[in-house]
Amino acid sequence: MNVLGIDIGGSGIKGAPVDTESGELTQERLRIPTPQPAKPDGVAEVVAEIVKHFSWSGPVGVTFPGVVVDGVVRTAANVHHSWIGVDAARLFGGATVLNDADAAGTAEMTFGEGRGRSGTVIMLTFGTGIGSALFVNGLLVPNTELGHLILHGKDAEERASDRAREEHDLSWEKWADRVEEYLRHVEMLFSPSLFILGGGVSKKADKFLPHVKTETPVVPAGLQNEAGIVGAACACVRPDV
Ligand code: BGC
Repeated sequence: MNVLGIDIGGSGIKGAPVDTESGELTQERLRIPTPQPAKPDGVAEVVAEIVKHFSWSGPVGVTFPGVVVDGVVRTAANVHHSWIGVDAARLFGGATVLNDADAAGTAEMTFGEGRGRSGTVIMLTFGTGIGSALFVNGLLVPNTELGHLILHGKDAEERASDRAREEHDLSWEKWADRVEEYLRHVEMLFSPSLFILGGGVSKKADKFLPHVKTETPVVPAGLQNEAGIVGAACACVRPDV
C-alpha cells in the first residue's frame, strides 16, 4: 500500500509517500521547518502543505512527540502545552497519529534490526527527549514513556538524552555512563532480549556504544532519518498501532 508518512520533529516536519511493503520512500521527501512555537494550528498548516505538495488523497500517518491515545494528544513534554487534549487525528484531516518513538520502533521491527525478533524488544530514541517503544513478540505496547522514569530524582531524559549530552557538554564516554545506567534500570524492570537505540546518535554509535555495558544486547537502529516517516506510514496498515 502507498501511505503518506509525516514525522513531526522539534526543528523539522518531514513527509514522503512510503511503500509499506518494502519500507521505501517512493518520492523524495519534503522537509519544512517546524513553526516556533510549535502550536497545533501552525503545525496543522504545515501538515496540510505536505499533503498538498504530494497531491495526496490516500491514507496519511503522522508521528507526534508525546502520548497519543485514539488520536488525542495526552502529554507534551517537549512541545507546546496547548497540544494537550487536542484531537490530532481530526486536526490532521483524519490521519492515523501515533507517538514518535512508537513509529520509529514500528519501522525498526518491520524493516530494521527488530525484524523477526520475538520476546521483549525495546527501542529507545535519544534526541531532545528519550522516546521508547516496547514490543512483545512483535506487538507494540504503545505510549510506554520510559524516558520519564525517575533516576536520581530526575526524569531520565533530563540526564541521558542527546540534548543533555550537548547542554552539559559531556564527552561521549561520560554520556555513555549515563546511558548505561539508564539502560540497566530499564533492563532491571523489563528483562528485554534486545535494545535498539535510535535517534540521531545511532549514526555515532561507535563513539559511545563500546562504553555501554549491559546484560542485554544493544544495537543501533538500522533505519535512520526516515524511521519516523516509514513507521508513521506502517501504522496505517498495522492493526496494533
Ligand atoms: C515524550 C515522548 C517522546 C519522546 C521523544 C518525550 O519527552 O514524552 O512521548 O516519544 O520525548 O520525542
